[in-house]
Amino acid sequence: MSTHYDLVIQNGICALHWGLEETSIGVRDGRIAALGVPASASATARIEARGLHVLPGLIDAHVHLRDPGDAGVESIPTGTRAALLGGLTTVFDMPNTAPPVVDAERLAWKQDYIERAAYCDMGLYIGATRENIPTLAELETGRGVCAIKVFAASSTGDLLIEDDATLARVMRAGRRRIAYHSEDEYRLRARRALFSQGDPYARHAAWRDPETAFLGTRRLMALARETGRAAHIVHVSTKEEFAYLKDFRDIATAEVLVNHLTQVAPECYERLGAYAVMNPPLRDITHVEAAWRAVRDGLVDSIGSDHAPHSREAKARPWPETAAGLTGVQTLVPLMLDHVASGRLGLMRLVDLLAAGPARVFGAVGKGRIAAGYDADFTLVDLGAKRRIENAQMATPCGWTPFDGMMVTGWPMMTVLRGEVAMRDGEVLGPPRGRLVRFFS
Ligand code: DOR
Ligand code: ZN
Repeated sequence: MSTHYDLVIQNGICALHWGLEETSIGVRDGRIAALGVPASASATARIEARGLHVLPGLIDAHVHLRDPGDAGVESIPTGTRAALLGGLTTVFDMPNTAPPVVDAERLAWKQDYIERAAYCDMGLYIGATRENIPTLAELETGRGVCAIKVFAASSTGDLLIEDDATLARVMRAGRRRIAYHSEDEYRLRARRALFSQGDPYARHAAWRDPETAFLGTRRLMALARETGRAAHIVHVSTKEEFAYLKDFRDIATAEVLVNHLTQVAPECYERLGAYAVMNPPLRDITHVEAAWRAVRDGLVDSIGSDHAPHSREAKARPWPETAAGLTGVQTLVPLMLDHVASGRLGLMRLVDLLAAGPARVFGAVGKGRIAAGYDADFTLVDLGAKRRIENAQMATPCGWTPFDGMMVTGWPMMTVLRGEVAMRDGEVLGPPRGRLVRFFS
């Protein structure tokens, strides 16, 4: 048997599923062939990783790449380049594009387009609508589909299913885990009259208050139990939901956003104005601390960016017309590494939340760990590197990050995608080589 490898990544401290270990990884045909490869092994290429930590290729399971939509804001090519630069090898893309991804025709277009234009691997969500419920069982088993996404409250785009009867019909169609944007649409509508156009941006968090999110999650959990359909609540943001979801671990997984762990109201609204407006909103310190407790308790399954680029013009509109959403695919890993540097979580927990976790939640095949037979996806990080996040670095065409000017400790130095170096020292290498992720279905 040949012991030749296409690539050996040597002398790095590797985040294996069972802990950190200094070892060398042998790659063949785009997959991990062996760990503990001896220095004498022959290899076509070598990466010297001494001084770096070698993590499984990191996954952002929550991005909005706006394609089809406005390529001047973001697109699949630009967004997946941003992902590689930010230390990710896989992203899962949301369906609220223009037009939205809600039928077989749009799915086929997107599958084909991703395989020509994406720089990193991708999964994609299918949006649920009132009309497409009879087709969801089939659509959710499509190539590259990570899940059905339900907007139970209105946000960017017009995907919305707000009533219990229709939500239950969606849950009874198909069987894979459904991802939910959980806020209560009726409460949002009722409370709108309490606010006026042009109110300060901080009012966004008062309108979409904690009860709006908690009520949405209570309703969804009741329906999930009734129908027996597994749920994934994206961007859980309130202390009430974290406490509540502990009793639904049999049926629900939970995502937290780096924004909800990093930005604190009301200060963030004063500093950032419209560039703090997103759904669900950035909240006060009691919720931020609850989110960290939930991370520490193991309640949180994955961390995402909810990368949601908008043009500066769309952001400049007065509240509440200002576009809700913040860029983040390129800053997710640097920010989480900075949280590791400041002692808020351990490196292995970061790997669980950004690799093994999303792979487990969605059933991604061959992703999320460094182990024989898995895809040879790696994120090599320098835990001590001090860098400044700047608008000018952003590969996303809208050109801004709410973290502009922030110093962080820890930086992704290289990404390897199925055995080939895809990003090194802030440069994307090679043509678009992204593929659709496979999912257990
Ligand atoms: O802030 C948000 N922006 N929340 C969402 O739910 C959607 C997203 C977007 O697409 O802009
Ligand atoms: Zn989102």
